[in-house]
Amino acid sequence: MTQDELFKVLVAHCKEYGFIFPSSEIYDGLAAVYDYGQMGVELKNNIKQYWWNAMTRLNENIVGIDSCIFMHPRIWEASGHVGAFNDPLIDNKDSKKRYRADVLIEDFLAKIEEKVNKEVEKGRKRFGDAFDEAQFRATNPNVLREMAKYDEVHARYKKAEDANDLAEYRQIIIDNNIVCPISGTCNWTDVRQFNLMFSTSMGSTAEGANTIYLRPETAQGIFVNYLNVQKTGRMKIPFGIAQIGKAFRNEIVARQFIFRMREFEQMEMQFFIKPGTELEWFAKWKEQRMKWHVNIGMGAENYRFHDHEKLAHYANAATDIEFQFPFGFKELEGIHSRTNWDLGRHQQYSGRKIEYFDPEEGAAYTPYVVETSIGVDRMVLAVLSHSLKEEKLDNGETRVVMSIPAPLAPVKAAVLPLVKKDGLPELAQKIMDDLKYDFNCQYEEKDSIGKRYRRQDAIGTPFCITVDHQSLEDGCVTVRERDTMSQERVKIEDLRALIDKRVNLNNLLRNL
Ligand code: GAP
Repeated sequence: MTQDELFKVLVAHCKEYGFIFPSSEIYDGLAAVYDYGQMGVELKNNIKQYWWNAMTRLNENIVGIDSCIFMHPRIWEASGHVGAFNDPLIDNKDSKKRYRADVLIEDFLAKIEEKVNKEVEKGRKRFGDAFDEAQFRATNPNVLREMAKYDEVHARYKKAEDANDLAEYRQIIIDNNIVCPISGTCNWTDVRQFNLMFSTSMGSTAEGANTIYLRPETAQGIFVNYLNVQKTGRMKIPFGIAQIGKAFRNEIVARQFIFRMREFEQMEMQFFIKPGTELEWFAKWKEQRMKWHVNIGMGAENYRFHDHEKLAHYANAATDIEFQFPFGFKELEGIHSRTNWDLGRHQQYSGRKIEYFDPEEGAAYTPYVVETSIGVDRMVLAVLSHSLKEEKLDNGETRVVMSIPAPLAPVKAAVLPLVKKDGLPELAQKIMDDLKYDFNCQYEEKDSIGKRYRRQDAIGTPFCITVDHQSLEDGCVTVRERDTMSQERVKIEDLRALIDKRVNLNNLLRNL
């Protein structure tokens, strides 16, 4: 299966097993908006809990808040979002479809890379063991021709990006005959800036209504509460404020399932520090956040840093933590050294002094900020896309298993009476009633035990507990482990400890 096909399988699996549904599906859906189902919400909550506890419990100098989605409209002027939170937009005049000009060019470049890779694979097949990839890339005329085109377009694109030259974006598209996938024509409008913020009005009468925005990031809710938290919490610099909440962006190109949504959730932490110490803290948070990711157990090789060469005007360092999604390495989290830009702007726009009196320095200053910002939904996608596997079993059958890291799994244990009679359901229900206070458990008695195991594999349940006739006599049950499918007899009173050892989130947190 190609990566594309695998991704389609994942999307279908997420729907079939209650992880993620297209929003408003009975009305044919709403583009780039998704609902979490009964399994998805549990996974999402576990991810949020892992992040929240790692931030606020493991760091005595980090506290949490929950600010509102609606905020004073001046906030978005101060933050620069009204003026500059834009994407370059282009329309095809024939299909009337709308695209991001930069994405059209990036897709074109990705296609060239794909062509080159295909050529290399052909060479590998043709020459077998004697194949020297470096030499092939340096001498094969097809590869050289494609790479020359790639370098030329890439250089023009980067120059246009740096200069924010929208006319040049359009010219690159025209010169390379990049066509609309729907109409197949190159009949493009000019490129123009499109603001990504959603707006609505607040107030009961049309005349008195104010335009307000749905927040495009949670970070500004933290900045505008800096003084409140610092004073009421008697926080001493360095300290952090963490927040989890919804954010909204009117993305022009919304693709790749929950990777790029119009309504999504962020987990952000702003760390307030003394000016001049920001690069040291930036390095620390880079290390800390990578540790948090790798600790989940999805393979260190699936993460990498991508340091930004082009920095936003307010930043003096920035990096992305990228994850290997089915469509390649892509941004999962951003870590930014934002200087004192945000607090400084709010000071200027609100007229309120936003400073910290540093007793050690005997002076006041506007703190600098290092921010860590991760999308909850991207994290859900990382876990789901990494975990879904189709396995060939020894008996020739295949099974679909979601090997979700056990502490994040939606259901921790399924309690299954072997048959629906002879007192087995009663004993199974008793076990369920005992375990449910510690773990999210499922009780299932319908279908054969094999089918029930498969259903639990498909939602990623680490343990299946089967109650059989012998259980009534010896007080033991069969525990089947999801990944190895190994089975062992366990005393009912030992179940809690056995499950807890694998699924307790604190075990993950202790490794940080
Ligand atoms: N406060 C900084 C900030 O918002 P960002 O790089 O724009 O920075 C941070 O966003 C993270 O939010 C991203 O790394 C990504 O995980 C997530 N994110 C951004 N836009 C998203 C979207 N449209 N859909 C889903 N997640 C998104």
